[in-house]
Amino acid sequence: MRLILLGAPGAGKGTQAAFLKERFGIPQISTGDMLRAAVKAGTPLGIEAKKVMDAGGLVSDDIIIGLVKDRLLEADCAKGYLFDGFPRTIPQADAMKQAGVAIDYVVEVDVPEEEIIERMSGRRVHLSSGRTYHTRFNPPKVDNVDDVTGEPLVQRDDDKEDTVRKRLAVYRDQTRPLIDYYSQWADSGEPGAPQYRKIAGVGSVDD
Ligand code: AP5
Ligand code: ZN
Repeated sequence: MRLILLGAPGAGKGTQAAFLKERFGIPQISTGDMLRAAVKAGTPLGIEAKKVMDAGGLVSDDIIIGLVKDRLLEADCAKGYLFDGFPRTIPQADAMKQAGVAIDYVVEVDVPEEEIIERMSGRRVHLSSGRTYHTRFNPPKVDNVDDVTGEPLVQRDDDKEDTVRKRLAVYRDQTRPLIDYYSQWADSGEPGAPQYRKIAGVGSVDD
């Protein structure tokens, strides 16, 4: 199974990816998680990326495309993969198409903007696994502690309200065009075209 989860910041891509990767036995390729790992490790990429991420912008296409192509060479991607937060620009999507990276389904997770701000303000994450919680909507068993490892949860640096608004604007300009890009490709009936599904991202996590 080869999937793309498409959706605004805070739509719940990471939350649903945790279920999908178990269900299909495939790795989750989250470019956001990969960048946060680089920031935490203090690598040159991390130092560069942190400035862009904290401002709510996008890291350059060349860097992201290189990261994902390298990741796809790893053995666990032979059975499939789940892209979370990638591609998020037309050039990133074109690069995958040109490289012949197969996609079976593009799943759009649709959530209204009003709800996004509330979701981001209560989000808490376990940085090393990418597991995501919400203080009200999806709380951990013990306040501020990861259910699996018992390690502390943190708030993401880019979840401040101003940065969230900037990220939503960048989403509208640069990522939302991928909805037409993939749905038109799906409708074309070309060999190798993915299937497109839009799902409501409101309701409970289990729904
Ligand atoms: P990234 O980490 O990809 O962030 P994002 O796309 O903005 O998405 P989020 O992780 O914020 O949201 P999500 O949809 O995963 O929601 P979640 O499940 O956490 O990217 C971060 C930055 O890295 C970017 O801004 C950019 O700078 C850079 N970057 C990354 N990829 C890049 C790329 N390809 N190109 C260029 N730059 C890139 O859920 C959100 C909250 O809601 C949680 O608290 C959760 O518990 C809660 N929640 C989830 N589902 C529900 C529900 N059904 N009901 C109530 N609450 C819910
Ligand atoms: Zn995420």
